[in-house]
Amino acid sequence: MLIEIADRSGFCFGVERAIKLTEESADKYGEVWTLGPLIHNRIVTDSLQKQGIKIADEVAQAAGKPLVIRSHGVTEETENEARALCSVCIDATCPFVKKIHKIVSEQPEDSAVIILGDKTHPEVIGIKGHARCRVFVCADFEEIRGLYEHKALSPDEDVALVIQTTFDRGSFLGYSEDIRKCYNRVKIYDTICNATSERQKNAEELAKRAALMIVVGGKSSSNTGKLAEICARHCTTVFVENAEELPKQLLKGLRSDSIIGITAGASTPAYTIKEVHDSMNEEIKNINEIEEDFAALLEQDQSFTRLYNGKRVKATVVSISKKEAVVEVGAKQTGYIVRDELTNDPNAEVADVVKVGDVIDAIVIKVDDSVGTAALSKKRVDAALGMEKIAASKEANETLEGAVTAAVKGGVIVIANGTRVFIPASQTGVPRSGKLEDLVKKTVQFKVIEIDERRGRVVGSIRQANKEVRDAEKAKFWESIEVGQKFEGEVRSIEDYGVFVDIGAVDGLVRTSELTWNRVGHPKDIVSIGDKITVIVKSYDPEKKRVSLSAKDPDENPWTKFVADYAVDDVIKATVVSITEFGAFAQIIPGVDGLIHISQISTDRITNIASVLAVGQEVDVKIIDIDTEKSRVSLSIKALMEESAPAEDADAE
Ligand code: F3S
Repeated sequence: MLIEIADRSGFCFGVERAIKLTEESADKYGEVWTLGPLIHNRIVTDSLQKQGIKIADEVAQAAGKPLVIRSHGVTEETENEARALCSVCIDATCPFVKKIHKIVSEQPEDSAVIILGDKTHPEVIGIKGHARCRVFVCADFEEIRGLYEHKALSPDEDVALVIQTTFDRGSFLGYSEDIRKCYNRVKIYDTICNATSERQKNAEELAKRAALMIVVGGKSSSNTGKLAEICARHCTTVFVENAEELPKQLLKGLRSDSIIGITAGASTPAYTIKEVHDSMNEEIKNINEIEEDFAALLEQDQSFTRLYNGKRVKATVVSISKKEAVVEVGAKQTGYIVRDELTNDPNAEVADVVKVGDVIDAIVIKVDDSVGTAALSKKRVDAALGMEKIAASKEANETLEGAVTAAVKGGVIVIANGTRVFIPASQTGVPRSGKLEDLVKKTVQFKVIEIDERRGRVVGSIRQANKEVRDAEKAKFWESIEVGQKFEGEVRSIEDYGVFVDIGAVDGLVRTSELTWNRVGHPKDIVSIGDKITVIVKSYDPEKKRVSLSAKDPDENPWTKFVADYAVDDVIKATVVSITEFGAFAQIIPGVDGLIHISQISTDRITNIASVLAVGQEVDVKIIDIDTEKSRVSLSIKALMEESAPAEDADAE
């Protein structure tokens, strides 16, 4: 707010002159009297009284003493009386008023004088007392016209019109033409004091710009009252005699850029104007201080985060308990997040989710200023962020990981990125005979197969994720498989012709003959489902996705041992292990059987092998051939029989 003092406020030339003359007289004569208050301002007159200047209600009261005639002037009669009775008559009548006295006194006796002004005002009374003709005092044009209408004055009379020095010039100019129309021979003397008109003009200009005008001056001062009247046409106006009379909370409701105008009547001393000015200044200062304090408070307040429902904040965990985490969010309120708002995982403890010092994203869900707390939620932020990530993952066909938190009707719930994901039972990978509960608390990988962001619903598939993993493993397997590659496999199934072994990406077939170096009756005699066995790739077909395996350890190959230890013509013992139409197989060492062809069983002709040999029977045989390429051994009983026959014959001879 700005305080502006109107130009020409306060003492006018005439008042200043009167006060100066009075004070000088007081200095000169010691005791001085004024005829009535020197000016219409109690403060000034009180001050003068303190200087020993006394007020006389009538001239006789100051008889023999120096008497000051005030600036308003007095009647000619009073003036003469003062000169006659008082020791000194100091005429402090304002020269502008004196001029009016002169105009009026010079009017012919058969003429008339109209004084436009306040008939009770001492100035007007004094003016009136200088006329030698008829005098009419009119307050306004209506009263002037009234003189004409009531035939107090005729239109052709000589009329002199003078105006009280402090009359509002604007009002006078408004009807001066009308006056001329009423009276043909009127002489209008514009005796309005420029000091007054300029004061009024300045006050009015200021009032038009101001939000509030303070008019300072004596309540009985006509010119001050006039100023208040003019100002009140344009803005809120208060009329005070001094600073003490300023109403309380005068500035209440005014804008901070308001102008506070001050004007003062001609009889208002500068120090009273200053007091009012200082008082207003003080009040503005107070307001500014309050506003500054408020602004500071506001600023201080703004250094805190303003919390409202739905606001997302960074929260620092300051303490945790079983039920909640207390967080600092830079607000006036103490933030807290109850366990259920920390995570969607019903199995998680507060300490599983956050620890002291963690900075987390949270959303305000309830502010309670009455107790200074703010309830927040982490899981809702996580869910929102999670939903975005999940949508992006689906778009990118990524595999997500999450913890299974519960088995529900028709499936399981997985929490991933803070979001609940429903995995239908058919997509869990758990067989019908299995239990979904077994998945709870396990970390699983899944693919997102359906999202309903509006309902916050996400459906996933563990099966699909597993399938992708398997497909990838298979692809990698077929890219890297080699004959001779060794695998640790698990027997998956047993058939009559062999066993299928899981070697990771695929199941390979180990034919019965490849299960062991030894002779095998049925695969189940060697292995059981679930057995872990070492296998070697014998061959593979990427097109048909088939792999032939062997469980035989090359280092244990009995043929190698056989060729190292045995040679053609060696006579050895062998055990018959099977009999066929074309001969009998006899085991030389485990894993190496030799064939005793039907023609090599005896020197006699044999038609029924079983009549001469039996399975399990140990026989002496001679190795007659070793086919290293085909790993075949030919044995002969007959060769031994022939070798021994001549000797027997010789003995007989
Ligand atoms: Fe004189 Fe004008 Fe003041 S008439 S007393 S100077 S207002």
